Amino acid sequence: MPATRRQFLGLTAVAGLSLLTGCSAKQSPAAGPPTAGGLRLTAAPMRLDLAGRSVPTWGYGTVPGPEIRLRAGDVMRVQLENELPEDTTVHWHGLAPPNGMDGVPGITQEPVASGEGFTYEFETAIAGSFMYHAHVGMQLDRGLYGPLIVEPRTEELAYDREYTLMLDDWRDGVDDHAGHAGQGSAPAEEDPDPADLVSFGGRVYPLLLVNGRPPEDAAVFEARPGDRLRLRVMNIAADTGFRFAIAGHRLTVTHSDGMPVEPVTVDALRLGMGERYDVLVEAAQPGGVWQLGVQAEGRRGWGRAVLRYTGSQASAAPVAHDRPAELDGRLVSYDELLAVEPLALPSGTPDRQYDLVLSGTQIDRQSFPDADPLPVAEGEWVRVTMRNTSAKWHPMHLHGHHFQVLTPSGRGPVKDTVSVPARNGMVTFDFLATNPGDWLFHCHNHHHMEDGMVRLVRYLPS
Ligand code: C2O
Ligand code: CU
Repeated sequence: MPATRRQFLGLTAVAGLSLLTGCSAKQSPAAGPPTAGGLRLTAAPMRLDLAGRSVPTWGYGTVPGPEIRLRAGDVMRVQLENELPEDTTVHWHGLAPPNGMDGVPGITQEPVASGEGFTYEFETAIAGSFMYHAHVGMQLDRGLYGPLIVEPRTEELAYDREYTLMLDDWRDGVDDHAGHAGQGSAPAEEDPDPADLVSFGGRVYPLLLVNGRPPEDAAVFEARPGDRLRLRVMNIAADTGFRFAIAGHRLTVTHSDGMPVEPVTVDALRLGMGERYDVLVEAAQPGGVWQLGVQAEGRRGWGRAVLRYTGSQASAAPVAHDRPAELDGRLVSYDELLAVEPLALPSGTPDRQYDLVLSGTQIDRQSFPDADPLPVAEGEWVRVTMRNTSAKWHPMHLHGHHFQVLTPSGRGPVKDTVSVPARNGMVTFDFLATNPGDWLFHCHNHHHMEDGMVRLVRYLPS
């Protein structure tokens, strides 16, 4: 979805989403929190063009769905229409809405039946790069997802253009084994991986897409020599961790999961499912076309987009499978990320602590829904430690909160999804229990989630 900031602000209508009222920027600040349009999202069967091959899927009009963009403090109001043959809901991944707007069927709301609608409405307090996606069964594995950008009231980063890249693993219409009616096609028990392999999942996905496009028909992002680009890189895949790099360019990480970090310059990103990074890229080459490479961690799989310098003589895109050497360069790590706005944790020790073992696709030997909730009380400082004894990395996602990853610096990144390394990898995070309700805490591998790798964080009655 290449566009300049100016083009975004001039947006009036795109497929699948209509802006029923004006842009929030035009509204008077004196009139209370402005409503960022009345957005309509229609979930429906559709076809997606994959380099000339038309495949059936479900989506919100386009894949990815239309970008939702608003400013911190706006009220987001989205009218969901369900034209799918089954129930659906929408979850706002990374936002912390009131519980009833979180989009988890049977937990935070009644599922939206076929032919019915539901209005999501809440104030988006915090700026960042987020995603929205369906939260019923394996619907996310189809095209039911899109980017959700909340701009700060005052942008502190300076850049010339921005692009969003949604990385996805794909099998709709290209894989005969995709049992979409219910569970994934492979059994719950995972194959052991070789010990040196970073692997987030084990299912077969024939294609990796960047913004809904396969390598043979790659998205092209334009830059002028000297431009500074902001890229919002998001992993919306069901079963694939990605490594991301750009040939001939380095990446300065400014945000993880939408939350600001002290800038760190690296060659490559690793993103578990549900994770996002914002990076700045200096278009410092004199020209040319450059590969934005997307490689599946731990298995075969390749996707890409193209960075093209405007006016460049070279018009041919790099060969589809040209692999940037930067993919093997310096990789961002949680330990080197420093939160710009750490959580306001009190001094002393946490009020409540959970130590959880991730084994297979279980959390502490339990599989949801036959699993105990994790109680917390409003106002508490809660610490969660996860030890992963399985062979797969698990990107663990907490709804409704931002947590701070505990790192040696004492100022680890604030995130909502964190990848716990396999074979006794450990991650600890802290959060403040300030958003009452029942909140999902789960692995963002959607096969693992369907297998029951889920707990509820449940606020005790006050
Ligand atoms: Cu992005 Cu419960 O999900
Ligand atoms: Cu998992």
